[in-house]
Amino acid sequence: MKKLIERRQFLSNIWKWGFGLVAVAGAWTSWDILQPASPSGFGGKIKDGAAGDVPTTSVVTVSEAQAYLTKNGGDVVALWWRCPHLGCRVPWCESAGEFECPCHGSRFNRLGEYRSGPSPRSMDRFAIEMEGTSVVIDTGSITQGAPPGPESIDEPPGEPCISGGE
Ligand code: FES
Repeated sequence: MKKLIERRQFLSNIWKWGFGLVAVAGAWTSWDILQPASPSGFGGKIKDGAAGDVPTTSVVTVSEAQAYLTKNGGDVVALWWRCPHLGCRVPWCESAGEFECPCHGSRFNRLGEYRSGPSPRSMDRFAIEMEGTSVVIDTGSITQGAPPGPESIDEPPGEPCISGGE
């Protein structure tokens, strides 16, 4: 009789430990799932090179951020490469010193300011933070480009990469 009770007690303890482990695993999984994700890559903050390496008369491409970096005076500017018209990627044309959209011909100056074409506004910008001397592009923080208006820099376009356009 004593052996039967010990066996029952043993099996009862096994079941209790089993349920306990399942409960702990469930709680851990729920806690883990509910943690806010720390975004990296596009949609998050992307650390790039030194601000001193950002050009003042051209742009550098930061593919991971889908961005171009340039300077306005001493301030770093991060432009989203997505065209505000219908979303095509807008490449930089070095010979023209401007962005030329290959889809419908919108053009923007080095700061992404609207020049011509069907785009309803200037190129959108990402927020910038400085981490020491490094530039951090916050691709989760986008400021819509300004509507067409006077340009804030006097950099007339040179030889275009795409002929025609609007
Ligand atoms: S998508 Fe760029 S002009 Fe249409």
